[in-house]
Amino acid sequence: MSESGLAPAAPGVTNGDERLLEVTGLKVYFPITRGIVIERHIGDVRAVDDVSLTLRRGTTLGLVGESGCGKSTLGRAILRLYQPTAGRISFDGQDITTLGGAALRSVRRRMQMIFQDPYASLNPRMTAGGIVGEPLDIHSIGNRGERRQRVQELFEIVGLDPTFAERYPHEFSGGQRQRIGVARALAVNPDLIVADEPISALDVSIQAQIINLLERLQGQFNLTYLFIAHDLSVVRHISDQIAVMYLGRIVELASSKGLNREPLHPYSVALLSAIPIPDPAVESRRRRIILRGDVPSPAAPPPGCRFNTRCWLRERLGNPSRCTDEDPQLRELATGHAVACHFAEEVAGSPEQLQVTGRPAATAGSAPESTSGGGAATQSPSPAPGAVPPPAR
Ligand SMILES: Nc1ncnc2c1ncn2[C@@H]1O[C@H](COP(=O)(O)OP(=O)(O)OP(=O)(O)O)[C@@H](O)[C@H]1O
Ligand code: SF4
Ligand SMILES: [Mg+2]
Repeated sequence: MSESGLAPAAPGVTNGDERLLEVTGLKVYFPITRGIVIERHIGDVRAVDDVSLTLRRGTTLGLVGESGCGKSTLGRAILRLYQPTAGRISFDGQDITTLGGAALRSVRRRMQMIFQDPYASLNPRMTAGGIVGEPLDIHSIGNRGERRQRVQELFEIVGLDPTFAERYPHEFSGGQRQRIGVARALAVNPDLIVADEPISALDVSIQAQIINLLERLQGQFNLTYLFIAHDLSVVRHISDQIAVMYLGRIVELASSKGLNREPLHPYSVALLSAIPIPDPAVESRRRRIILRGDVPSPAAPPPGCRFNTRCWLRERLGNPSRCTDEDPQLRELATGHAVACHFAEEVAGSPEQLQVTGRPAATAGSAPESTSGGGAATQSPSPAPGAVPPPAR
């Protein structure tokens, strides 16, 4: 990077460690208070509750889960837009959990965010060029001429005509606005980008264009992404690893391929079963696993396993007391594949998993024998009637 910081973006300074981000035991609680004159603390919304993950430089971690499970809160806490209640965030080898002032501003320059709604996230009173160049102003990078030049360059990088820089957000389409959001995130040559549902508000036809743009930019600038979505079908295309989140916790963490091939948490199996298959003949034969009820309140999560109120596996196993008595921790069942379920061994090769993955029984059950102590032996059933081929990747 030049002295002005305006040279073409380059891979971030490396500390010799491939791990760019390490989150350990992170908790973000929002206090619930009552009373107007005297505020009493009566509880907490446990939006993120003991989350640990590692993000390697130049890779994408997809974060999925239903609405309200804490994805955005986790993303914002990582960027230090929310102060963590407990735990540790390490960025490029530096503990940033409690960083403040100039030190935090300096780290923030290397971590940017792309927002869900390109309509709401762009200031309607600023020109597109002003929006893209704003981070350069905030971080006092370059003089006016250099900033203008950098803004033009950024427009070209994201596939926008630089002569549009004087236009206002309402003069752009949804896809173009998201490109402006991407250009703004890129302005200060970040290492990490938290993309919070960046395509959810876009037309389906535009979604693929933005995904392709993000993938191209990742290769070009060695970017690291935390890609948040509520839909597994979106993240599995772009992610190297996927973390499935439920009620403030990560319940499954695996490579994208591993999760698609062999989901091991009942919740992940249900999410995968909801992805439509393009072939109508196959789709019509498939059974969806419908999760009953809503996600419980993060202010009062169920005792034991947080998923127990909606779990199809628990029901199938005859409601073992362990599900309501003991909080399952993430444990590695296969290399790089961790799951937080006492009975995950029962999922491997189960009819429900086979419905989703369509794998023949012979390849199922790569997980070790059951250590759950729940009494039920690991099953290796024949393919379920109507088992379907894997969903299109
Ligand atoms: N500033 C806040 N104050 C209090 N509660 C909050 C705050 N922000 C989020 N929450 C609560 O924390 C929980 C997690 O919210 P969060 O927005 O992180 O979920 P999400 O997974 O991003 O959901 P969505 O898919 O709808 O964006 C929710 O119950 C939400 O109501
Ligand atoms: S621990 Fe029990 S309730 Fe939780 S996911 Fe596993 S089977 Fe379901
Ligand atoms: Mg969100």
